[in-house]
Amino acid sequence: MRQVAFFGDSKRIQNRVTVFDTTLRDGEQTPGVSFTRDEKISIAHQLSEIGVHVIEAGFPASSADEKEFVKQIASEGLKSSICGLARATRADVEACADCGVDMIHVFIPTSEVQRVHTIRKTHEEVVDITRSVVRFARDRADQVMFSAMDATRTGMAELTEVYRVAVDAGATIINVPDTVGVASPSSMRALVSSLAESIACPIDVHCHNDFGMAVANTISAVEGGASQVQVTVNGMGERAGNADIAQTVMALESIYGIRTGISTERLVETSRMVSHFSGISVGPTQPVVGDNAFAHESGIHAQGVLAEASTFEPGIMTPEMVGHRRRLKLGKHVGRHAVARMLSDAHIVAKESELDEIVAQVKEISNRGRKVTENDLYGIADTVIGGAGVEKIIVLNDIAVINGNHIMATATVRASVDGKETVCCRIGNGPVDAAMKAVIGIVPEVLVLKEFSVSAMSGGSDAIGHVSIAVEDAKGRIYDAGASSDDIVLASAEAMINALNLVYRLKKGE
Ligand code: KIV
Ligand code: ZN
Repeated sequence: MRQVAFFGDSKRIQNRVTVFDTTLRDGEQTPGVSFTRDEKISIAHQLSEIGVHVIEAGFPASSADEKEFVKQIASEGLKSSICGLARATRADVEACADCGVDMIHVFIPTSEVQRVHTIRKTHEEVVDITRSVVRFARDRADQVMFSAMDATRTGMAELTEVYRVAVDAGATIINVPDTVGVASPSSMRALVSSLAESIACPIDVHCHNDFGMAVANTISAVEGGASQVQVTVNGMGERAGNADIAQTVMALESIYGIRTGISTERLVETSRMVSHFSGISVGPTQPVVGDNAFAHESGIHAQGVLAEASTFEPGIMTPEMVGHRRRLKLGKHVGRHAVARMLSDAHIVAKESELDEIVAQVKEISNRGRKVTENDLYGIADTVIGGAGVEKIIVLNDIAVINGNHIMATATVRASVDGKETVCCRIGNGPVDAAMKAVIGIVPEVLVLKEFSVSAMSGGSDAIGHVSIAVEDAKGRIYDAGASSDDIVLASAEAMINALNLVYRLKKGE
């Protein structure tokens, strides 16, 4: 096994850990989230393509629609095994079997608090039900996972007994759920090691994030001998969610050198897809996939990273490994090195004293609480240097947008590109989309809009709106730009024009 940065006892750690994704089941239990049929199918395809071993597609007994979704996903011919969730009842198991899933995941509460207050059963009754339902499930599917719900609050003797009974009845893997997220890394590791010692069956782990330890507990379970981890995209799930796929996979791969088989370079793309479908945005400081995961603003960090990236990044995890980009950000902590690099990338030459003035102005604007984009930087440089080489290559001359409840939004843009007039007309999903597409259409480059956000800078229906965008070129370079107007369509079009100017400015001297 290749150990990259883990120095502890590795006696039980497996070389390879499989990934069980429950975004479509526990993830969809996130309050306020409901995926459409098409979104579920797209997510299932994405998970399968990136190498997830098992996809928990849903809980078929919960509704007729849910059953149809699970059936549909099971019939898509995906590389991943498809799993359906079942309470420990024959009816729930039948519902899973009807969907044609590869794996049936049977669960029953085992802790006293849940046994008494939810299913009102004794431990002995739970053991009997487990034996009979797991056997029933195994007659209907090749793979059966058994979960002792609330395992981490269940007495060790009772827990071991119920797992033994499940394995004797045909469970092919046992899952240890930390249902309310109360485990600690050391308790989880001890629990899983003890189960691994007494039960001859692969162990899977399902950790909730109530104390922010879901990923740490999942990794500790692997240290204890678990060979499968349950995760969700963006850590979605009940309450504070589950272990996040990107963080768990990257920690296993990069810190422990464990192979997961996941195409890690597609983790950011997967996160963005699920964020879009779920309507739950990913915070900038979210590890691995957040906007700031590889962004540097402070002068000391940016200078270090420009010299050698691993000075202020883990090094064992690079942005390329997860499909991210390294970004130097402008802000109140920015230093001369980063500003000088950004200007020289745009072929803007500033004298030392001019550079000092530009840096001072960037900091001053940031201190007023405003975000400073590269576009703003060039504007500042223009003022300080006096127009030296920062002219607008692309100028928006006219834009007309037609929209209505019975017509497709259509935008026509007239712009000059390096002095040459160009016209482009596009339809879109609404006026902003049409306008952005028409602007992007005036240049031949393949550019993809990666981020778009609007914030109101004043109150009322005539508020000034600020549009911030990020555009990616074919080489993967990201261009941040923005514009403000009391007309949101115009602000969007201007923001895109500003982004195109950044693209052209960098292209010009290449
Ligand atoms: O959190 C939990 O215990 C669960 C089970 C169904 C495994 O989600
Ligand atoms: Zn759960």
